[in-house]
Amino acid sequence: METSIAFVLLFSLLAVSSVAEKFDFFYLVQQWPGSFCDTRQGCCFPDTGKPAAEFGIHGLWPNYAKCGRGRGEELASAVLGEDDVAFFSGAVGRRGKCWPEFCDDGNALSLWEVRDLVASLNRNWPTLSCKSGRSFEFWSYEWKKHGTCSNLAQHDYFARALAIKAAYNLTAILAGAGIVPSDTATYSLSSVRDAIAQGTGFTANLECNRDADGNAQLFQVYQCVDRQGKKLIDCPLSMPTKCSSDQLKLPLF
Ligand SMILES: *[C@@H]1O[C@H](CO)[C@@H](O)[C@H](O)[C@H]1NC(C)=O
Repeated sequence: METSIAFVLLFSLLAVSSVAEKFDFFYLVQQWPGSFCDTRQGCCFPDTGKPAAEFGIHGLWPNYAKCGRGRGEELASAVLGEDDVAFFSGAVGRRGKCWPEFCDDGNALSLWEVRDLVASLNRNWPTLSCKSGRSFEFWSYEWKKHGTCSNLAQHDYFARALAIKAAYNLTAILAGAGIVPSDTATYSLSSVRDAIAQGTGFTANLECNRDADGNAQLFQVYQCVDRQGKKLIDCPLSMPTKCSSDQLKLPLF
């Protein structure tokens, strides 16, 4: 009896004192601007002007490796090691999601904290949303939703996302495999997947969307990154791709 009370006390103390968010890996999500814009919904350019025709960062998202059902979990154990995954087993985020989010609403992004990164962020992490046209609002939202769960300070969070993007130029990697933006050419899903695996050394997950005519197009690439936000890893989870067609487009931007 007394032992169990002691245990309950010990565990509540641990729960309170462990501020660190538990998650298994990050997704660095990059979007192809042509596929963002080429939908029924369309896009707007930020106040800094039309972004380059290159992949742009959407976000750096903490994620659980073990999330609900099935197949992905075996893959996760193989990639991360059984112990790591077991440690986080059963971790399901607030609202039943596969990732933690909005971990500290009181921690708003400060422009001052990232002032030396703003030029690079404008180039590599531009907003295409028509809501505000101000990329700072995009970064602030990403920080609030995902960054506050990253166990990283604001500057590190953005600097690490930029560093990984810079280390692997997805636009160049795809071009090297003959996958270039075009309004007519189509590419197979496996050729895109293989090009990224070969060019970066690690598997990534892919997401497609549809253009206004309903054609499938490559929309976002999800690269997997270790818990420190420093090194790519093979993606421990597969995702439903929605790339149902094998005739993917990479539309001009
Ligand atoms: C990435 O590659 C593309 C295509 O080769 C090139 O135009 C672009 O300048 C590169 N971006 C960076 C930041 O080096």
